[in-house]
Amino acid sequence: MGLNSKVDISSKVLAMAVGIFDSGLGGLTVLDAVIKKLPEESFVYMGDNLHAPYGVREPSDIFDLTIKSIERMWDENCDLIILACNTASAAALKRIQEEWLPKNKRVLGVFVPLIERLTKRNWGDNSPPREVDIQNVALFATPSTVASRAFQRELAFRAIGVDVESQACGGLVDAIEDGDIILAEALVRSHVDALKRKMPKPQAAILGCTHYPLLEEVFQDALGKNVQVYSQANLVAESLSDYLKRHPDLSSTNKPKNRFITTGDPAIVSMRASQFLKRSVEFTSA
Ligand code: DGL
Repeated sequence: MGLNSKVDISSKVLAMAVGIFDSGLGGLTVLDAVIKKLPEESFVYMGDNLHAPYGVREPSDIFDLTIKSIERMWDENCDLIILACNTASAAALKRIQEEWLPKNKRVLGVFVPLIERLTKRNWGDNSPPREVDIQNVALFATPSTVASRAFQRELAFRAIGVDVESQACGGLVDAIEDGDIILAEALVRSHVDALKRKMPKPQAAILGCTHYPLLEEVFQDALGKNVQVYSQANLVAESLSDYLKRHPDLSSTNKPKNRFITTGDPAIVSMRASQFLKRSVEFTSA
């Protein structure tokens, strides 16, 4: 009995991996950065491509879809899951953590690392909000993320006197998921123009959707070189590395091996993901 339970535990530990979730391909920007930062770790990437984009959906719909994917990733032995999706982080994470998540599982979002960097705070610094160097921030995100005001809420816990102007970038995720980069570039320029009409001189710009780093150069060019563009991938990787140091039981102990699953058509998603990452990636059906 004792011996058997030992065998069960070790075989589960061997298969454990950190889950990286997005509605579609955008979370691959985060996956790439976490693989670079944590080459000894195993990851399971899940894209809910069948239901992307999330950014035009209602919060209750985003919650339902996100928990379905989380449950699917538990089957892959992911006790720790990163929502590499701002839309799910903004619209569903709080409810997931407060109302739904069992105690032995962890789900983290991608907003907080970014806000900590912007406000120059370390993890766990719960001191009262204070003034920071940056006063004018442009936030580019999906319509649902903008509507949630989650970014402003998290920022208000840490900083005072920061003016945030949001631009909901309608159509951009669809263009990226469809591989239509010409349309995506045109949309970035028109969304930056729209933002600048509301806030002519932002000091910093947040790419608040994990799809957008693919177009980071276009954002930077349209915004001008004086605007500091923050994108999440590397910040999330640093933050995950810190988190795993504090929670070594959630680290994978097996030889690193990454798996990719999708609710969409695996052949199409594999092709787009390979273009996106500029290396071959093979998805299987979720
Ligand atoms: N990449 C996601 C995000 O960070 C999702 C975009 C979408 O599905 O609309 O918001």
